[in-house]
Amino acid sequence: MNRSNPKNKLIFFVVTASIALLGLSLLIHFDQRLRDFLAAQMGGLASRADTVVDVLLLVLLGILAYLFVRALNNFIFGLVFRLRKGFEAPTLVRNIFSIVAFTALFLLIFSSIFKDVNLGALFTTSAIFGVILGLALQDTLGNFFAGISLQADRPFQVGDVITVGAQKHSGVVEEITWRAVKIRTFQNHVIEINNSTAAKEPLEVCPRDNLNARLIFFNTLYTDSPAKTIRVVREAVREADNVSQMIPPIVRIRNLAENGVDYELKYWLEDYAKYNDTDALIRQRIWYAFRRAGLNFAYPTRTLHVERSRKIEFQDGEGGTIVERLSAVDIFAPLSVEETSMIAQAAVSHVFAPGETVIRAGDPGSSMFVVHNGRVCVQINDKGKLRTVATLNEGHFFGEMALFTGEPRAANVVALEETEVLEIGHKAMKRVFETNPGLVESLSHIIVERRQGLSARADTLDTDTEGPAGILSAIKRFFKLK
Ligand code: CMP
Repeated sequence: MNRSNPKNKLIFFVVTASIALLGLSLLIHFDQRLRDFLAAQMGGLASRADTVVDVLLLVLLGILAYLFVRALNNFIFGLVFRLRKGFEAPTLVRNIFSIVAFTALFLLIFSSIFKDVNLGALFTTSAIFGVILGLALQDTLGNFFAGISLQADRPFQVGDVITVGAQKHSGVVEEITWRAVKIRTFQNHVIEINNSTAAKEPLEVCPRDNLNARLIFFNTLYTDSPAKTIRVVREAVREADNVSQMIPPIVRIRNLAENGVDYELKYWLEDYAKYNDTDALIRQRIWYAFRRAGLNFAYPTRTLHVERSRKIEFQDGEGGTIVERLSAVDIFAPLSVEETSMIAQAAVSHVFAPGETVIRAGDPGSSMFVVHNGRVCVQINDKGKLRTVATLNEGHFFGEMALFTGEPRAANVVALEETEVLEIGHKAMKRVFETNPGLVESLSHIIVERRQGLSARADTLDTDTEGPAGILSAIKRFFKLK
C-alpha cells in the first residue's frame, strides 16, 4: 500500500486507531482477569504480571497518542494554510511540532502508569543511558540540527534546482524534512540527501525565482564570418520558448581551435528546471538557422565533406520538383514553361523550424515566398495579442504585398511545422510582369482581398483598403511598368 497517498493515509489511520481502541477497551475490561491469569502463568509473581499489563497499556496509549498528535498536526497546519491563504509550513516545523507534542504526551502517559518511576532521576542519573542514546542518535541528531540550520539559513527552497556533493546530485528540491532533503532528478528519480551532507558538502543553487544562465557550445568552419554567425545565432535563440526576454543572449568566440572556430552561447532561462529541454530546443534552432544562413559546423579537418548544392540538383533535373511546385501555384498558371523555369532558377530555398518566424510585421520586404513543404500561419497583432488570420499550405504563396507595393510587411508569417519555402526576389518577378500584364492584375485582386481580411480582424491595422485599380497602379509604379 502506498502510504503517501492521502486516501491510503486515512485508511491506515482509521484501521490503526480502531485496533488500538479495541485493544485498549479489551485491556480495561479484562484488566483484573488478565493480571490474575498472567500471575498464575508466572508462578504467582503478581508484580511482574502487573508490569507486563502496564507496558501493554503504555504501548496502546502510546499508539493512540501518536495518532492524536498526527491528527492535531494536520488540523493545526491545515487551519494555518487556510487562514493565511496558501501559506504552507515547512515540513521540518511540522515534524518538530509532532516530536515535541508526542514526547510530552508520552511522558505524561508514562508517569501516570508508572507512578513510582522517577523520570527526572532516570534521565539525569543514568549516564550509561545518556551515552547509549547519544551514540544511537548521533546521525539522527546531526541531521536534525543540520535541518534546523537549513530552515534558518534557507540556502535553498522547495522548487530550486540544486547540485550537491562530490557526486554532483542534481535536481529540483521537493521537500526538506527533519532528516533529509528530497530532490527529483531530471531522470525523475527521487534522491534523499542527509541534511548534514547538504549542510556540509559544496552546494550549487539555482533559485526558482532567479534568472539563471546556461552555456551552449558550438563551432563553425573558419570560412564562416564570426559577425554573421553571432547575429544568426542570437536571432535564432531569441524566440525559443523559456528563453528570458529580459537579458539578450550573448554569443562569443571561445577558441580558435584545430577544426574551426569554437563559440559559446550564454542565455538566461525563465524556468531553470526545464534547462534540458531548452538547451535541446536551442541546439535545434541553431542547426536550422545555420542551414538557412549557409553557415557550417566544423568537421575534423581531415574529413572531405562533399555537398551538392540545390542549384546543381535543379539543373540535373532531380530538383525538377521546384518547377513543378511553381507551376502549380495558381497565380503562375498563365506563365510559359520558360518563364516558370526562370523563376525556379532564381528561387532560393530556406528551411524553418516549427515556431520560427519567416516574415515579421513591419519589416521591409523585397521578396515573396511559396510554401514548398510544410505549413505556415499568418498572424496579426490584435489588441496586443497575436491572432491567426490564415493558414497557408503547400503551393500557397505569401509576402507578395510588400514585394509588389513596397510597403512594410503587413503581418507575421510563422512556420507551424518544419517548412521549406521558396523565396522569389523582385528582379525575377519584374521580368515576368513585363511580359504578363494579366499576372499583375490577378495579383492586385488577391492583395485587395487579403488586405480586407486583415483590416476586418485587426483594430490596430491601417484600414485604408484601396481597390484593385489603386493597387494595380501602385504595383505598376513600384515596378516601373507601363
Ligand atoms: P506581406 O505584407 O509582404 O507580408 C505578410 C504577408 O502575409 C502578406 O504579405 C500576405 O502575403 C500574407 N497575408 C496577409 N493577410 C493575409 C490573409 N488574409 N490571407 C492570407 N495571407 C495573408
